[in-house]
Amino acid sequence: MDAIGEIVAYEQAALAAIAAATDAAALEAARVEFAGRKHGRLRDMQALLGKVDAAERPVVGKRFNEAKTSVETALEARQKELARPKTVAGGLDLTLPGTPVRLGKKHPLSQTIDELKDIMGRFGFSVAEGPEIEDEWHNFEALNIPEDHPARDPLDNFYLAAASVAAANSVNAAPAANSTAGSPVLLRTQTSTVQIRVMEQQKTPPIRVVSLGRVYRPDTMDASHSCMFHQMEGLMVDRGVTMAQLKTVIRMLFSSYLEHDVSIRFRPSFFPFTEPSVEVDIPWGNDWMEIGGAGMVDPHVLAAVGYDPDEYTGFAFGLGIERLCMKRHGITDIRRFYENDVRFLRQF
Ligand code: DAH
Repeated sequence: MDAIGEIVAYEQAALAAIAAATDAAALEAARVEFAGRKHGRLRDMQALLGKVDAAERPVVGKRFNEAKTSVETALEARQKELARPKTVAGGLDLTLPGTPVRLGKKHPLSQTIDELKDIMGRFGFSVAEGPEIEDEWHNFEALNIPEDHPARDPLDNFYLAAASVAAANSVNAAPAANSTAGSPVLLRTQTSTVQIRVMEQQKTPPIRVVSLGRVYRPDTMDASHSCMFHQMEGLMVDRGVTMAQLKTVIRMLFSSYLEHDVSIRFRPSFFPFTEPSVEVDIPWGNDWMEIGGAGMVDPHVLAAVGYDPDEYTGFAFGLGIERLCMKRHGITDIRRFYENDVRFLRQF
């Protein structure tokens, strides 16, 4: 065998003996045999080096040093391994490094919802909840949307079959106070329903609440529309509430969530439950994107829940949570939120 062959054989025998050592004594024996300087195989190797031709020496010497290092490294690693306490009952070794399990995290929309609640909390707004299955009183009538209004068209709403109504009532977090048994129910089309529920529950203002949750509309899905999406409703009722306050609250909310000062645009619009009404837009590329609707609570709505419209005024808004989140993160297609593709979700 030539010198290199002997070195390789030495290295392989050493690594095998080290790996086979199952306790400290066996490992020490392997160390003495393969790495002891006074006698043993390391000394043989050194003696061998002295005999190779001067011309061959640099190559053989280099290989020898490599073998020596790899044996030393293996010895050290095995020593550490054997020094670790053995497995606990059940075979679980608590001292082993953990398997890198990727922890899940909150969906970007849930993160946005948490942040929006937080910001509005700092403005003094508390959070109210309302059911997703609603009766017509809260979804329409109390919001000044009469029976013959086109918004109530069965084609524009997810009405539930009569058989589902009983089940719906048992699912509802807050059963409809004003709904009569047997009246139609539907998946709410807007979180404005919660305005009514809050005012019904609280006999007199002041009111400052937000409500965040899902709404449903039979819309065709595209990059900016979905048949289910999330809204944040806001309602403030007190003496002397003004539209200037509404605009300030929305602008501060957006600036805070988007982490920079944003300009907003109020565009004249119509909602049955606000007067005047506006659409709220934010800059979107070179254009504007509608984020939601807002306005001053219509006196009829205040009267319907028993507030005196001569004494109190209020503002209300309903904003699309998806679109705000899209604006912040530069997401260009709303459908990404619902596909549950972890490659997308992991980024937030
Ligand atoms: N509910 C309306 C919608 O879903 C949005 C809205 C408009 C909410 C005006 C409001 C409001 O509170 O005052 O289209």
